[in-house]
Amino acid sequence: MTDSNKSSHGEWSSRMAFILAATGSAVGLGNIWKFPYITGENGGGAFVIVYLMCVLLIGIPIMIAETMIGRRGKRNPIGTMALLAKESDADPNWHYLGWLGVVAGFLILSYYSVIAGWGLSYILNVFTGSFSGAGGEKVQTIFNDFMASPLQQLFWHTVFMVVTMSVVARGVTEGLERAVQWLMPALFFLLLLLVAYAMSTNSYFKGLNFLFNTDFSKITGQSVLTAMGHAFFTLSLGMGAIMVYGAYLPKDISIARTTVIVAGADTLVALLAGMAIFPIVFENNLQPGSGPGLIFQTLPIAFGNMTGGWFFGILFFVLLVFAALSSSISLIEPAVAWLVETRNMTRQRACVWAG
Ligand code: TRP
Repeated sequence: MTDSNKSSHGEWSSRMAFILAATGSAVGLGNIWKFPYITGENGGGAFVIVYLMCVLLIGIPIMIAETMIGRRGKRNPIGTMALLAKESDADPNWHYLGWLGVVAGFLILSYYSVIAGWGLSYILNVFTGSFSGAGGEKVQTIFNDFMASPLQQLFWHTVFMVVTMSVVARGVTEGLERAVQWLMPALFFLLLLLVAYAMSTNSYFKGLNFLFNTDFSKITGQSVLTAMGHAFFTLSLGMGAIMVYGAYLPKDISIARTTVIVAGADTLVALLAGMAIFPIVFENNLQPGSGPGLIFQTLPIAFGNMTGGWFFGILFFVLLVFAALSSSISLIEPAVAWLVETRNMTRQRACVWAG
């Protein structure tokens, strides 16, 4: 480490770059795939309120703390925890917390990339018209056949991982920052197009009503836990990702203000995704509470049968893959930073190992 005031991997070139990168990490499959289906399963509006409370009261403070720790340490999460423990004469075992983060990110990426791969394959499915005119049974068969084919899933997962690795290999400013600089605006634009489409359907208000109608009788202990867990997941907390992004944050940027913007943007995207998806679900007489299959088994029926379904179907799955990509690069970054710093590897080599 030559300059102790900077991370050896470089720094974000501006506050905006950090905001885009952290929002990119936060906005992912969690927003587009998970949030709508858990909202559907937990009855809608009241669950959304509990979730918003969790983001505000737990998520934002933890995100501030994690970014702060990262910026103090300016290293990979394991190194940061070790350094901070040493500096404050605390138990050196704290560095295991860094390990937990790196391993958790690694484990999440191992399934995250599989689902992102499903997204890639669905772009092709919609493009080639596999769903056109399809009923529930046909969509189900396509999904089941795909699930039964490890080779196909391996293929798409690999494509996704190669893209992730090639972005991360280019480094903080040339790779991560460049990627999020066009991924995030594109993602937002696609989402707005989809919401605009949803607004043009007759079921728009039914969808809104579902998302925002608060019936607290539907809230159980379990749904509170689900909301809390999701607040952690969607803000990428506790996994070293935000910590390592904090390590690349220049000294003069206000962490609290930036964090509130990131959490706000993440929440906005989740709500917009709900506002795009539920009207389409209701318009096509489908079930909002259909669980993890909402996106891969329910929505394709709508895309196969509605006007403009081909176009909006492609947009939707491209959006999903973009969101996943801007998250996967931050899932792998802590491990890559650790390999570079402690194993003396080049970034490229570290990416290949971690990938
Ligand atoms: N926040 C991401 C999403 O909503 C998922 C995620 C969880 C994540 N933990 C992470 C992403 C750590 C990057 C780093 O989909």
